[in-house]
Amino acid sequence: MKKLMTLLALPLLFACQPKEEPGQTATSSTQPPASTAPTRDPHSYSHPDEARVEHLVLDIDVDFAKKEIRGTATLNIKHAGAKSLVLDTRDLTIKKVTLQPGGANADFKLAKADPILGQALEIPINADTTAVTVEYATSPKAAALQWLDPAQTAGKKHPFLLSQSQAILARTWVPIQDTPMVRITYEATVRVPKDLLALMGAENPQTKNDSGVYHFTMPQKIPSYLLVISVGDIAFRPLSDNCGVYAEVPVVDKAANEFVDTPKMIATASELYGPYRWGRYDMLVLPPSFPYGGMENPRLTFLTPTMIAGDRSLVSLIGHVLAHSWSGNLVTNATWNDFWLNEGVTTYIERRISEKLYGKDFAEMQWTLGYSDLKDEFARLPAGDTALYINWAGRDPDEGATQVPYEKGSMFLRLIENTVGREAFDKFLRGYFDHFAFQSITTDQFREYLRAQFPGIEEKVNAKAWLYGPGLPSNAPLPHAEGFVKVEEQAKAYGGGTAASSLKTDDWKSYHWVHFIESLPSLTPERMAELDARFHFSDSGNAEVLSAWLNKSIDARYKGAYPAIERFLTSMGRRKFLRPIYTKLAAHPEDLEFAKKIYAKARPGYHSVSQATIDEILKWKG
Ligand code: BES
Ligand code: ZN
Repeated sequence: MKKLMTLLALPLLFACQPKEEPGQTATSSTQPPASTAPTRDPHSYSHPDEARVEHLVLDIDVDFAKKEIRGTATLNIKHAGAKSLVLDTRDLTIKKVTLQPGGANADFKLAKADPILGQALEIPINADTTAVTVEYATSPKAAALQWLDPAQTAGKKHPFLLSQSQAILARTWVPIQDTPMVRITYEATVRVPKDLLALMGAENPQTKNDSGVYHFTMPQKIPSYLLVISVGDIAFRPLSDNCGVYAEVPVVDKAANEFVDTPKMIATASELYGPYRWGRYDMLVLPPSFPYGGMENPRLTFLTPTMIAGDRSLVSLIGHVLAHSWSGNLVTNATWNDFWLNEGVTTYIERRISEKLYGKDFAEMQWTLGYSDLKDEFARLPAGDTALYINWAGRDPDEGATQVPYEKGSMFLRLIENTVGREAFDKFLRGYFDHFAFQSITTDQFREYLRAQFPGIEEKVNAKAWLYGPGLPSNAPLPHAEGFVKVEEQAKAYGGGTAASSLKTDDWKSYHWVHFIESLPSLTPERMAELDARFHFSDSGNAEVLSAWLNKSIDARYKGAYPAIERFLTSMGRRKFLRPIYTKLAAHPEDLEFAKKIYAKARPGYHSVSQATIDEILKWKG
C-alpha cells in the first residue's frame, strides 16, 4: 500500500519539474548530474563565476519600532572585467547603490520578484570596481527575521530579534550572493537600543555596553546561509576558556547547567576529525519560537529552549550542531541539491561523538530512533524526494529538510565505514575535512574523492542506488540497540494487556520513553488514559517525550491529551514538533477545526519558516 501511494505520487513530482532559469539544467533526480565541476546554484541569481563577493562590511541600525534593519552593505568583489554584479534580494528596499572606489551612483535594476527566489539586483560595474555599497532597508515581513514582543520572551520586559538565514533567507536581510557556493569574511557595525546586546556569528561581546553600538569581525570565510544576528536582553555564562552560553537572563543558568558537557564534546570531535577551526564555540539559547532545534551558525550556535530538559538527556543534539563545525561549516554543500553532504555527514559524526562520550549502546539507540523517523518520512514523501541527491530547482530548498538527508545520508556513511573499516574511514573523514576545508562541494566532488581513497568502493556499496535512487537500499546497515530490547518488550506487554502499574520501567531515560511510546501498538483511548495516569506523559517537561506522546494520542483519538496539545502548540514554534502534530490533526475533520483554532492563536508567535509549513498543511488563508 505504501509503495502504491509513493508510485501514485510520482506524476505530481514530474508535474512540478524544475524550471531551468536561473541555474543549472534540470536533471531527473534518479540520474547523476553530468559534470563534476561546481555548476550554478539553481537558488541564486548570482554569477559568482563572473564577479564574486569576498568580503562584506555591514553598517546597520536595528529598529524595533519599525521592525526594520537599515543601513549599508559594502561588498568587496573580485572579477576580471565583468559587466555587472548580480545580488540576491527578497523584500528589500534598495535606496541607493554606489561603486568603489569613487562612490559614483550605479544605475541598478531590481528584477521581477519570484515568490521563492526574490529579486535579482543587477549592478553595472566597471573594470576597476573593487566594491559596491548598497543602501537598503528590510521589510517588517522579512522571512529570516523574527521580531518578538516582550511578552514572547522569558524576561517579558524587552523585545528580541532573531534571524534564520538557511536555506535562502539571508537575502531577506542582506543584499548578497545568497548561495553556499560563495564564501565571505565580514565585519559589521550594529546599532541597537541601549539596554540590549547584539550578537552575530563572529567575535562577540560578552556584556552590554553603554552605547548600544557593537562591532563584529568574522575572519573565517562563511557561506551566506550562516550569516546571523540576534538582539535582546542577553547574558553570558562561560563553560570553559573557549566555550560558553548566551541566553535571556531568566534562562541562562539553567542553560549553562544543561550544556556543561559541550567542552568535552568539542575535545572529542577534535580528536576524531581534526582541530576546531572557528576560534570560540558559543551557544545562544533563543526564545521558544525559534523554528529549529539547533542552527550551526559559526561561533554562535542557535538552540531551541526545548532542548533544556533539566536532566541533560537531550545534549546529543549539541553533538549535532557542533559536528557541523566540520561537516557543513568547514566543508559545505555547493548547492541545496547536495544538502545530504551537510546533514548526512553531520548526523554520522553526531553519533560518533555520542558513542565516544556515552557508549556504543547509547549511540545505537540514537541510530534506532533515527531509523524509525526515516521510515515515517518514507511513508510521507513521494519516491523522488527520497534520494540523497535531489534537484530542487523550481522548489523551495526548505522542503529538502526531511529526515532523508539526515538519516539515509548517515546510514550511507555508516555502510562505507562498515565496508572499509573504522580506522580507514576515520582517516578518510579527517583527510576529507582537510582537503576541502573552507570550500563548498558537490556530491560529485565527494564521489571523486571517495573513489580516489577507496578504489572500487562505489560499486561495492552500490553508491548510485543510495545517492540517486529512492528509499532504502537493501544493503542498509540497520541498527540494533540492546538497551531498547527491554523497552520493546514492555511496549509489547502493554499491548498484550499488562496493566500500566506492572510495567518495568526503572532507570528509563527520555530516549527509552520515546522509543516505548513509538513502539506501542494501536491502543484504545482508555488504555492511553491508563498510561497517562501512571506516567503523566501529557505533563512531560521533556519535549521529545511529550511530542511522541501527543502524536500517539492523536492516532489513538485520546482526547485526554488534547489540552496538552493546545499547550504544546502555543508554547513553542519548533517546526519539527509542529509539523507532524498539525498534519495528524488535519487528517480528521473535527480535529482540523481544533487545529485551526489553535493555529489562529499560535501563528503570530511562530517564525515565518514554521508559518509557511503549517499554512500549507492547514490550507491557511490568513
Ligand atoms: N542546519 C539545520 C537546520 C536547518 C535545516 C535549517 C534546513 C534550515 C534549513 C540544523 O543543523 C539541524 O539539522 N537542526 C535539527 C537538528 C537538531 C538535532 C540540532 C533540528 O533543528 O531539528
Ligand atoms: Zn544539521
